[in-house]
Amino acid sequence: MSPDASGPPRGRLWTWLDARVGLADAERLARHKQVPVHRHTLWYYFGGMSLFLFVVQVITGILLLFYYRPSAEEAYESIQFLMAEVEFGWLIRSIHAWAANLMIFALFVHLFSVLLLRAYRPPREITWFSGMALLGIALAFGFTGYLLPWNELAYFATKVGTEITGAVPVVGSFLVRLLRGGEEVTGATLTRFYGIHVAVLPLFVTGLLGLHLYLVQRHGMSVPRSVEQTGRAARTMPFVPNFLLRDIVGWLSALAVLAALAAFLPAELGRKADPFAPAPAGIKPEWYFVFMFQTLKYLPSHILGMEGEVVGILAFGLGGLFLLLVPVLDRRSTRGEPSPLFTWIGIGIIVYMVILTYLGYTASPTK
Ligand code: HEM
Repeated sequence: MSPDASGPPRGRLWTWLDARVGLADAERLARHKQVPVHRHTLWYYFGGMSLFLFVVQVITGILLLFYYRPSAEEAYESIQFLMAEVEFGWLIRSIHAWAANLMIFALFVHLFSVLLLRAYRPPREITWFSGMALLGIALAFGFTGYLLPWNELAYFATKVGTEITGAVPVVGSFLVRLLRGGEEVTGATLTRFYGIHVAVLPLFVTGLLGLHLYLVQRHGMSVPRSVEQTGRAARTMPFVPNFLLRDIVGWLSALAVLAALAAFLPAELGRKADPFAPAPAGIKPEWYFVFMFQTLKYLPSHILGMEGEVVGILAFGLGGLFLLLVPVLDRRSTRGEPSPLFTWIGIGIIVYMVILTYLGYTASPTK
C-alpha cells in the first residue's frame, strides 16, 4: 500500500492502472460531480432510467442474435425455436420487447420534463438536439424491430406504416422503395430492417449517446428558473454515491416491473406472415405511433385541395421540426425571462398524444 496525498491508501494494482489509464482523474471527476436538490429533482432520474433500459436492450438484443435468422423463410421459425426449445429464450425475448416499450415511455417523460423545466436553455441546446436525434433513433429501433419476428400482425403493420411514408410529397415513392427494398414488403424488407436494427441504428446511437452524456457531464444538471429565482443558492448532493444509489434504486424497481411484465405477459408470436392472406382487422402500430395513426384516420380525404393524409404527414413533420428547434425558438427563455407559451405548448402536445392514443385503442375500427 502506498499513501496518496488526496485520498485513502492505494494498492499496487490501483497504482499500476492509474499510471496507465488515469484512474485518479476519473475518481476526481466522480467526486466533484454534484446534483442540485430542489422540488423538481425527481425528473433528473428519467435520463438515467432511459440509459438503464437501453443497456438492457443491448444485452438482451445480443442474446437474441445468437438464435435469430433474418430471412422470410427462417425468421418466424427461429423465434418459435427460441421460445419453445431454448432455456429462458421466451424470457429474454419478452424482456427485450417490454424494455423497448418502457424505454420509449421513459424517454417521453425525460423529453417533456426537460421541455417543461426549460433545461434546453443555453448552454444546453446541443444536449437537446442530440436528445431529439436519440428519440428518433429509439422510435426507429421500435419500428424496425417490430417486423423481425415476421408474424402476421407485424407484417401488416409494417405494410401500412411504410405505405404512409408514400404520402410524403415529392420523395414519397422513393422513400417507400428505400424502406421496403422493393415495391412490396418482402424478405428484402426484413433483411433491410434487420441491418438497420442491429448495425445502422447502434452505430448512430453510440456516437449520439456519447455526445449527449459528455455534454451532461460538461454542463452539469440545470437548475430550473423558478428555483434559481428563489435567490437561495441551490442545495446539492454528491453524484457518487448519493445520487447514483438513488438511481440504482430506480433501476432495480424498473427491473422488477420488467421481470413481472415479461413473466406474466410474455411477448406473443401469433401466426407466420402470409403476404397473400387478407389483412386481419384492427391492424395497429406500436402504441407510441398510435396518436399519429389515429389522427390520419380522422382527417377528411381532401383538405385545401391536397390529400388529407399528405396534410397530416406534413403537419407531423413540421411539429417534429418545431420540437427540435425549441431551444432556438424560445427566445424568452434564452434571455432568462418566463415563457409560459412553451409550457402551454408542451402541455398541449402531451394532452393531444394521450387523447388520440386513447381513441386509437377505444374508437370503433371504422373511425
Ligand atoms: C436514449 C435516449 C436518451 C438517454 C439515454 C438520455 C440520457 C440522459 C441522462 C443520463 C441525462 C442526465 C440526467 C437527466 O437529466 O435525466 C440527460 C440529460 C438531458 N437530456 Fe437526455 N437522454 C436521452 C434522450 C433525450 C431526449 C429525447 C431529450 C429531449 C429532446 C433529451 C434532453 C436532455 C437534456 C436537455 C438534458 C439536460 C438536463 C439538465 O441539465 O437538467 N435527452 N439525458
